[in-house]
Amino acid sequence: MARIGILTGGGDCPGLNAVLRAVVRKGVNHYGHAIVGYRDGWRGVLDNRVTHLTPDNTSGILHRGGTILGTSRTNPFKEENGPECVKKSLLAENIDCLISIGGEDTLGVAAKLQADGVNVVGVPKTIDNDLSATDFTFGFNTAVEICTYAIDRLHTTAESHNRVIVLEVMGRHAGWIATYAGIAGGADAILVPEHPFDIEEVCEHLRHRHRKGRTFSIVVVAEGAEPLDGAASLQQEEVDAFGHVRLGGIGVSLEHEIERRTGFETRVTILGHIQRGGTPTAFDRILATRFGIAAIDAASQEAYGMMVALQGNEIVRVPLDDAVGKLKTLDPAIYEVAEVFFG
Ligand code: F6P
Repeated sequence: MARIGILTGGGDCPGLNAVLRAVVRKGVNHYGHAIVGYRDGWRGVLDNRVTHLTPDNTSGILHRGGTILGTSRTNPFKEENGPECVKKSLLAENIDCLISIGGEDTLGVAAKLQADGVNVVGVPKTIDNDLSATDFTFGFNTAVEICTYAIDRLHTTAESHNRVIVLEVMGRHAGWIATYAGIAGGADAILVPEHPFDIEEVCEHLRHRHRKGRTFSIVVVAEGAEPLDGAASLQQEEVDAFGHVRLGGIGVSLEHEIERRTGFETRVTILGHIQRGGTPTAFDRILATRFGIAAIDAASQEAYGMMVALQGNEIVRVPLDDAVGKLKTLDPAIYEVAEVFFG
């Protein structure tokens, strides 16, 4: 019997509640642990704001998007005496192990704290699917479904109006969402951060397609995609505690540039946080549940410093450092599949 802390950090993501439910259900009913939920990611650990999680208060949340614990992008290493405050809070609650559910930033903090003597277990989460050492993160499948559904809808209006429609999706450093949704939705061009794009080449794809008799096109662009000449998108100056600028706007620039260069009437749709909200797909509910069970098993077996991961169809444990060392960018083979359908 142990006292297990748990937090959800970074951008929210469909499936977080499924992880919490699984950790609590097995942690309490099978292992007899007490599960202490920290509010709002690392912010709640710093402030020692907790909610005791029980099978009762985590019942009925499997299908709910967001996180019942709340989340934030707080970085304890950017706060005065942050790591000491974290340790003090964990000591005050007698926490034996802290399960951290997050992406590269949240798990990066967890890895540093582990090196500093805090017992942690990681669970990979991000709709971007850009975390290393796991084939998939939960939330990604839901985001792809939402984007695919959007492309299907944009197709009919693009066709009716003979327009080019640019769909901007999330993906700060990696084009997983854009490429998966673009393939599933039949996009005519997909622009991703891994391949800086030549705007003239993109326009040529569209002209080529229109010369073949097509009267409309769909372009999917990841928010982090950049033109070859490096001209930035409409980014904000402000950065968060992990140094990320707020992206968004490349789709608007493309809308203007495509219309100006080709003469084809063009419109942009920016999906934004719609991709992160709402109920998880069955795939994500199952993956999140498997991760939750594996995380509480790892914590119970004192497999500290490890992250649970999906490799093939197996849930495995990998060192946290393997997950946070380097981002998992798009598999070139999947982009090659998408390229066959460009233009
Ligand atoms: O990290 C996940 C993500 O959804 C990115 O794709 C996106 O750039 C970012 O979060 C947006 O963050 P926020 O909700 O803090 O604006």
